[in-house]
Amino acid sequence: MRHLMSPLDFTVEELEKLFDLANDIEANPDKYKHICEGKKLATCFYEPSTRTRLSFESAMYSLGGQVLGFSDAGSSSAAKGESVSDTIRMISCYADICAMRHPKEGAPMVAATKASIPVINAGDGGHQHPTQTLTDLLTIRSLKGRLNHFTIGLCGDLKFGRTVHSLINALVRYENIKFIFISPEELRIPDYIIDMLKAKNIPFEEVIRLEDSMPELDLLYMTRVQRERFFNEEDYVRLKDFYILDKKKMQCAREDMLVLHPLPRVNEISVEVDDDPRAAYFRQVQYGVYVRMALIITLLELQEG
Ligand code: NCD
Repeated sequence: MRHLMSPLDFTVEELEKLFDLANDIEANPDKYKHICEGKKLATCFYEPSTRTRLSFESAMYSLGGQVLGFSDAGSSSAAKGESVSDTIRMISCYADICAMRHPKEGAPMVAATKASIPVINAGDGGHQHPTQTLTDLLTIRSLKGRLNHFTIGLCGDLKFGRTVHSLINALVRYENIKFIFISPEELRIPDYIIDMLKAKNIPFEEVIRLEDSMPELDLLYMTRVQRERFFNEEDYVRLKDFYILDKKKMQCAREDMLVLHPLPRVNEISVEVDDDPRAAYFRQVQYGVYVRMALIITLLELQEG
């Protein structure tokens, strides 16, 4: 039995297979619409979410399966003091697979050690968000046709943004990737990531101004300042509008640069950018459903037809 805790749990070859499956689902949804009949997905969300939870639910329904779960720790027995370990033992009796989001780093991993069903980490604190990374990779591969030879700018809250940490971990396995980290000093990428890049000899730059690096980017990954992980509101207010991607800034970007964002967006991408053909963040949401469908099929070891 396999779980998904980090994007590195799959080899590059396994990811290729998963993305091929996701693209086949996109092209032939009918082939897969009964594959999960009789199967149940539990969504255990101890932290707010719209996209991730609903895209898991949508994915399971599109495969003919059913969904149960909770979307608020306050309405689950966690409010009575139940441990994640106990909850997952119980969920293992109710469902065939579980997607878990938790504010504590490592909580889904603890759940996986006690579960008798596959557990998917749907985001753990500021740590990892592997299904968002699968979404990001599938989007890039589908729209660009490759996952290597890119200069990628990651902009915004690089300190607390788990989607950024997960994506970097995943991208270092591909050839000729250069990272440009664009953040205010207070929201710099963590040192452990810098150390990892140095150890692997992967090129990166850290800059503050978005405009300066725009012309060299193949991909721009914008992120929200993660309000819920700040210790005080004042710092958040000071930093929240540090970057606003607008039409004017897009003018200095390449014709074929893609703008990605895990969403939700707050102010960091002006709505006037939404109509730009390079804005890929809403297409990214759709890829998120296909990749979660492919992931459920893979972890449940199901065969189509
Ligand atoms: C992200 C998350 O939860 O980390 N959202 C998502 O799942 N798409 C990004 C964010 O909340 O900023």
